[in-house]
Amino acid sequence: MNKAVYAGTFDPITKGHIDVIERGTKIFNNLIVAVADNPSKNPTFSREERINQLKAITTKYPNVKVDSFGGLLIDYVRKQETNIILRGIRTISDFEYEFQMALTNRAIAPDIETIFVMACEKYSYISSRLLKEAISLGADVGLFVPAEIQEALRKKLK
Ligand code: COA
Repeated sequence: MNKAVYAGTFDPITKGHIDVIERGTKIFNNLIVAVADNPSKNPTFSREERINQLKAITTKYPNVKVDSFGGLLIDYVRKQETNIILRGIRTISDFEYEFQMALTNRAIAPDIETIFVMACEKYSYISSRLLKEAISLGADVGLFVPAEIQEALRKKLK
């Protein structure tokens, strides 16, 4: 398959996201990892910081391009001249949310398909918000976040 878009807030990028990216690189010739402008999440890292972090982490995957977008994901996917959204699915609770999102996207853009990969069970229960909370309270979350991201987060959340 040719090209897919994996979008997220990535605030911060976790090993769970990296696992999905790695799986995507094996399925698609080209994978666009797109940082969503999601003001409602009030991100800790700026869009530029998240783009730079993703670029540094994904240099080892030659078929990954890092980008960002605002507005509707389906419009962005079309602009990239593809019709595939990649998502990771981990738990039953993910399923409900992913189901809603995929069906809403399909209702407004029937030509676009969402393809799911089963994400690694090791990271099945983490969320960026919980990781930030744990780091701000002094926990070591190196199991879930690359070392350089943990360090950057620690500085930000001081
Ligand atoms: N490993 C670890 N954590 C994961 C994960 C994985 N594989 N997949 C998701 N998560 C975590 C995320 O870190 C995030 O944590 P948080 O809520 O504490 O920040 C949470 O699970 C939800 O992640 P995700 O589902 O990827 O949400 P998101 O906010 O990162 O991205 C968009 C959602 C960007 C795809 C969606 O909001 C979107 O499409 N926005 C554009 C506007 C639009 O088109 N809206 C209509 C949608 S129908």
